[in-house]
Amino acid sequence: MEVFIVKDEQEGGKKAFELLEKEFNDKDIQVLGLATGSTPESLYREMVASDLDFSDIVTVNLDEYVGLDENHPQSYHYFMNEHLLSKKDFKESFVPDGMKEEEEATSEYDEIIRQHPIDIQILGIGQNGHIGFNEPGTPFDSTTHKVTLTQNTIEANQRFFEEGEEVPKSAYTMGVGTIMDVDTVILLAYGDHKADAIKATLEGPVTEEVPASALQNHPHTYVVIDQAAASKLEKDY
Ligand code: PGA
Repeated sequence: MEVFIVKDEQEGGKKAFELLEKEFNDKDIQVLGLATGSTPESLYREMVASDLDFSDIVTVNLDEYVGLDENHPQSYHYFMNEHLLSKKDFKESFVPDGMKEEEEATSEYDEIIRQHPIDIQILGIGQNGHIGFNEPGTPFDSTTHKVTLTQNTIEANQRFFEEGEEVPKSAYTMGVGTIMDVDTVILLAYGDHKADAIKATLEGPVTEEVPASALQNHPHTYVVIDQAAASKLEKDY
């Protein structure tokens, strides 16, 4: 893993964009894996402001809540449109369909990824070390599947929902195995509340209890973190 420690989230967005641009310049990038949550927002702002041409790029998102349709303001379809997809021209965009039954939704999504192998995957990380919605204990060889969200994740995501509105209890997510198959990963994390997860991901044992620790065995992963998220690291980067 190649680690970049930056001052703050704004700088992180710029650094991540620089890495993305370099990959676009050096390789024939066709498929970009996207993430939701507050973490990738500064990168998406850089992408929107740039003149990089994405019109030949297919996007594939990590996950979606079960039971929210694409017009629901908290759905990840909606988030992606709001922050990126309505602002830049892409060839085609996929997000798991939260309104379909498990078998259909997950097998359809695995087929989409088979047809559009992911060149670069943007990732955030949960405080419990999750990537996508792969909660602790998810097998490292998992493909797209349905997950029951942990209480920690539900509480962390409550802030996006209206008061009195419940966070869905389950989601469809690409698996850890799906993520390990991508060519290049750009993992982003900002803030003190991510410091333990980053320490465990970079310096802890590789264990299914910390899904992001699988990336220690990924051949081409960039990690862009701010000083707060890096504050518990012991090695020099
Ligand atoms: P966040 O979520 O960017 O909103 O902190 C990241 C995640 O849970 O993967």
